[in-house]
Amino acid sequence: MTETTPAAGSVALITGGTGGFGRALAGLLRERGVTVVLADLDSDRARQTAADLGAHFVALDVTDRAANAAVVAQVEAEHGRLDAAFLNAGIAGKSRDALDVDEFLKVVEVDLFGVVYGTEAALPALRRAGGGSIVVTASLAGLAPVATDPGYSVAKGGAIAFVRSMAPRLVDDGITMSAICPGFADTAIIDPLRDEFAAADFPVLSAEEVAQAMVAAWAGAEPGAAYVVQPGIGAVPYRFKGVPAAKTASGETAAVPASLIPPSLR
Ligand SMILES: NC(=O)c1ccc[n+]([C@@H]2O[C@H](COP(=O)([O-])OP(=O)(O)OC[C@H]3O[C@@H](n4cnc5c(N)ncnc54)[C@H](O)[C@@H]3O)[C@@H](O)[C@H]2O)c1
Repeated sequence: MTETTPAAGSVALITGGTGGFGRALAGLLRERGVTVVLADLDSDRARQTAADLGAHFVALDVTDRAANAAVVAQVEAEHGRLDAAFLNAGIAGKSRDALDVDEFLKVVEVDLFGVVYGTEAALPALRRAGGGSIVVTASLAGLAPVATDPGYSVAKGGAIAFVRSMAPRLVDDGITMSAICPGFADTAIIDPLRDEFAAADFPVLSAEEVAQAMVAAWAGAEPGAAYVVQPGIGAVPYRFKGVPAAKTASGETAAVPASLIPPSLR
């Protein structure tokens, strides 16, 4: 990533913003003079967390499509603009059943549809600001699905596919969309696994390491990139292998009709 610093005075919205990554990110952005709005499920703890960080708080359940739009409207009304949306809210599954469909649907609703609704809500505001960034917190589990949590793997894999398919459509608007794919990191979401990691001496990321990758993605991501963040390697763009191309009857590589490719990619 070719990092530049987000301009002081710009405005960032972080969903799931009072959790581990959100707090670390808010701290880094506040140091850079960015106005930060943390959107999260409502609680006294969440409101106090935002106040302690010098950030604003707005209650949001990301699974409520209309509420996402209302939050962005509130950000624009109160702060004049929106420059970056960090779609970061997420939950993991806990079930030990081979397939718990109720839990699967809940995780997909938050971790995938929350991202889709957040994108829908943010886009008009980012266009009005003359461009900006959407940074989605996906996960390594979206690139290397985990048998312990199929709903999470599907949701995060879907979020990465969503970012990759949306990003080219936004380039002409000056909007950069990218995904961050951290390995295990030291936040509340890994509480059920923490003892096992410690016993195995397995390295976990700090929330600050992930937040640094999120700031860098805002400032200089490759559109559609999925950045792997792992202990000891920092943030590295994942290189997708692509798929074998179709062959024509005569054995030539078939070209996708130009009309199916967005003008900015032809
Ligand atoms: N910690 C890790 O190991 C790890 C690794 C890869 C990806 N992630 C992803 O990072 C993101 C942030 O997680 P974290 O590690 O900071 O964990 P966290 O549990 O500390 O934070 C998650 C935040 O999301 C909020 N949230 C949950 N459901 C919500 C909803 N419906 N609407 C609005 N907010 C909601 C929670 O209240 C919480 O503040 C998540 O998307 C998670 O899947 C975490």
